[in-house]
Amino acid sequence: MNDSEQIVYLNGEYKAIGDACVSVLDRGFLFGDGVYEVIPAYGGKLLRLDSHLQRLNNSLDAIRLKNPMSGSAWAHMLDQLVQKNAGTDQSLYLQVTRGVAAKREHEFPDTVKPTVFAMSSVLASVSRAVAEQGIKAVTLDDIRWRACNIKTTALLANTLLRQQASDKGASESILIRDGNATEGTASNVFVVLEGVIVTAPVSPLLLPGITRDLVLELAAKHDMPCQERDISEAELRKASEIWISSSTREILPVIKLDGEKVANGKAGPVWQKMIDIYQQYKQQIRDGA
Ligand code: PDD
Repeated sequence: MNDSEQIVYLNGEYKAIGDACVSVLDRGFLFGDGVYEVIPAYGGKLLRLDSHLQRLNNSLDAIRLKNPMSGSAWAHMLDQLVQKNAGTDQSLYLQVTRGVAAKREHEFPDTVKPTVFAMSSVLASVSRAVAEQGIKAVTLDDIRWRACNIKTTALLANTLLRQQASDKGASESILIRDGNATEGTASNVFVVLEGVIVTAPVSPLLLPGITRDLVLELAAKHDMPCQERDISEAELRKASEIWISSSTREILPVIKLDGEKVANGKAGPVWQKMIDIYQQYKQQIRDGA
């Protein structure tokens, strides 16, 4: 799949990405007034579609926008996109904005149809060997608002924070608010403390990641001790392992934090076990189990 072949969905139509156009008065463009989802598809099968659609509903409710499509219509449209872009694992991106108003005004327009856009990109999962090399992360003050549970397209703070990591040669920022690690700019954060997997509890301070849920579920199923509780900055710094999780990056070990090695600077044994379990789970998705 290259860009010129990429077929996207816009407001009921499938078209080449270069032919998909949105008005400059779209509130997504003017205000970041929209929400989105990112859903992996392995072997053409969408991972945890119901959970993603539930989170989409929660985001839409939070911004007082009615879901413009039923669950089955979303499933059908995403499936069409998967088929039209077949050949590799895919990452399905969808977004709903409040639509195109007659003029730029902060209040919600009365009668406007939401803009619905979706596309599929190649999901190039990193190999086990590459994942094992881990990533570098930095810590930064979580300057975002207090509704981080909404998966909004208004991502300026996240992009600024991610760029700061990139400027320092790292690939994720772990965000600190009131002395606790909340999440990454586009990922959830896990630490291992005395053998226990710990992640911050769901709250308006972070996005309830679908991968995060899956990690917790798989840990429980395989008798790996885990807890949802606050992670202090001091705990983050003394953790024997740090991981980030997301739909596109799966689960990656952080081997350096702020330039210092995390433990011995190598992917840890708890991550090794979890990633094996996670890969088995993915295989079951591919096999249609
Ligand atoms: N982001 N936290 C934030 C702020 C995120 O943006 C994401 C995902 C996550 C992980 O959620 P999930 O496991 O459901 O992917 C946590 C996506 C991948 C993105 O913005 O591209």
